[in-house]
Amino acid sequence: MALTLPRVIAHRGAPKEAPENTLVSFRRAHQLGARWIEFDVALTLDARPVIFHDDGLERTSDGQGLLAAATFESVKHLDAGGWFGRAFAGEPVPTLEETLDLAIDLGLGINMELKTDPGREAELATIAMAIARDMWPADRDPPLVSSFSPVAVAAARDVAPDWPMDLIYNQVPATWADDGRALGLVAFGANHKHLTREQVMAIRGAGYKLSSYTVNEVGRAAELFQWGVDAIFTDVPGEMVRKFGAN
Ligand code: G3P
Ligand code: MG
Repeated sequence: MALTLPRVIAHRGAPKEAPENTLVSFRRAHQLGARWIEFDVALTLDARPVIFHDDGLERTSDGQGLLAAATFESVKHLDAGGWFGRAFAGEPVPTLEETLDLAIDLGLGINMELKTDPGREAELATIAMAIARDMWPADRDPPLVSSFSPVAVAAARDVAPDWPMDLIYNQVPATWADDGRALGLVAFGANHKHLTREQVMAIRGAGYKLSSYTVNEVGRAAELFQWGVDAIFTDVPGEMVRKFGAN
């Protein structure tokens, strides 16, 4: 599966300008010139996939407790924007379906990160992928599907064997090539704080794409691109697109 990544991927939308992982944030990233967005998909108690990063509801909504312990009905009533600023009060937690609809509408490429709850990795992947597979237009480049969980990636691949799969690491382990083969990966993601030039060269040299998160300084982004990193996830997509272009 060939995969073409733009250099700049808007991480959770445009989270310095609008509340992360909301539709308004994804729209803002698009306005700022990003061609791709990244978002986090997680399951509610009753197994509905929604766009949310943390395990707990507190930081990015007016809810309390765990997302995984909250029903979809209760999550849909949360305010996921007011914490960021009064202008965003009432902005809801998006469903996966709403987010895919928006991306399709705006012509945005997507990296769908499967954010798993221990024990629900395959459940999340199977449910989210069935929806994405059903909705995503056949004539568009398929989404990049990623996770820190190899179990989620394997389950996602079972649903969409022809879509590009990506395993994300905080620190790239010595066994990355084994993961690549075992999971049929096309790409890896890595935390730029621990990434070395040697790792970039080895991964790229083995034919994988490589993205790095979360890079908010232009100088660091330039260095990573120079090493051979294909794409960066950034909280400042406007600034990065101005510097490196949208493609
Ligand atoms: O995939 C890049 C990045 O999104 C991974 O970390 O915690 O921001 O989801 P996180
Ligand atoms: Mg993420």
